[in-house]
Amino acid sequence: MNTPDWSSTLTMGNAEIDEQHRMLIHMIRELGDQMEAGEHRQGVLDALQGMLAYAATHFEDEEELMEEADWDGLDRHEGLHAEFLWKAGDLEVQVKEDVAQASREVLKYLLHWLVDHIQVEDRKFFERVRH
Ligand SMILES: [Fe+2]
Ligand SMILES: [Fe+2]
Repeated sequence: MNTPDWSSTLTMGNAEIDEQHRMLIHMIRELGDQMEAGEHRQGVLDALQGMLAYAATHFEDEEELMEEADWDGLDRHEGLHAEFLWKAGDLEVQVKEDVAQASREVLKYLLHWLVDHIQVEDRKFFERVRH
C-alpha cells in the first residue's frame, strides 16, 4: 500500500500516544497489503477488527488525557474519533459481505484521515499541553 511513512510531523511528544499512532498506521497498512494480496475473508476481518479495537482504545486513552487537561476541544474531538470508527465500521460490513469487492478506497480514506487527524487535530491538543 502506497502510504506515507512515519515522520516527525506525526510525533506528538507523548511516548505512549506516539507508539499507538505508529501501531495504528502500521495496522492499516498491513490490512491494505492483505486486501491487495487477496487474503481470505476471515483473515481480513480479523485484521480489520483488531485495528478497530486498537483504534477504539487509542481514542479512549487520548480522550482521557483531554478530559484530565480539561481541554475545551474535547467534545468536537470525540465527534471526529466517532467519524473514523463509523467509517471503519462501514468497511467491516463490506468485508463481511464480499471481501473481494470491499473498497480499498475506504481503507485509503481511513489512512489519510488518520494521518491528517494526527497532524492537525491531535497536534492542537498535544501542542497545548506542552506549553
Ligand atoms: Fe490520536
Ligand atoms: Fe485524536
